Amino acid sequence: MTARFRSTLQPRETDMNIIIAPDPAHAVEKAAAIVADEIRSHARPVLGLATGRTMESLYARLVTRYRDGTLDFSSTTSFNLDEYVGIPAAAPQSYHTYMHRHLFDQVNMRPGHGHVPNGMAPDLNAECAAYEDLIRASGGIDLQLLGIGETGHIGFNEPPSAFDTRTRPVILDPVTRQQNAEMFGNDADAVPERALTMGVGTILDARRLLLLAVGSSKAAIIRKALLDPMTPDISASAIRLHRDCTIIMDEAAAAELGLEGSRLP
Ligand code: GLP
Repeated sequence: MTARFRSTLQPRETDMNIIIAPDPAHAVEKAAAIVADEIRSHARPVLGLATGRTMESLYARLVTRYRDGTLDFSSTTSFNLDEYVGIPAAAPQSYHTYMHRHLFDQVNMRPGHGHVPNGMAPDLNAECAAYEDLIRASGGIDLQLLGIGETGHIGFNEPPSAFDTRTRPVILDPVTRQQNAEMFGNDADAVPERALTMGVGTILDARRLLLLAVGSSKAAIIRKALLDPMTPDISASAIRLHRDCTIIMDEAAAAELGLEGSRLP
């Protein structure tokens, strides 16, 4: 089911393309199809990539397409949203490792073309400025993939994150450290206190946004992000400012939107 959904709370007229799938598998498949089409439609695609459990099955579907010969990553460049500070790239919990395991090492992306911020950089601010420069030098991001955290973050833009923020070091919210504790022996205290993240402004600069959320644990924050007034306290609410934003959910994640009245035939 696809709906064009116009929130009256938006400061200007911006349609969000909302797709509600019957279950997580269909939601992920739809998102994978959009990413695959985006890759095919550019000579040199530039993707913004996300991590988290939700994205694992999306990457698996992209890898399947590569293996069956229907998707070629040889011209693709990518930029990840975020990385923990103080975790070596080779550590199992790093987002570098995540990306290599789930995508970079599984497809024909050229070495060095999958960028992830360096959370071990001696000068974190310089690393963030260089990351911004690299995105700009690549021509900007064609499609930015987004998940949503329980604090309402996109990337690691914890509350409050102004909508004009750029790539920078941040302090992680305790809720996020708890949410991501699984990779750290279920010990929230073992999750790094800091991370580097693209800013909300960096994300909004992408030419297209695609947010994927599945499961009932996302329903309340999805409702706040899409229906409550936009606020730096929920950085995901900023995506309503974007001109080309698609949100894909399963029915469980969309359950609190009360979209019935807005559904198109
Ligand atoms: C991490 C990432 C976010 C992502 C979130 C969702 O916090 N930094 O970019 O949106 O995970 O995680 P999950 O898909 O596991 O719910």
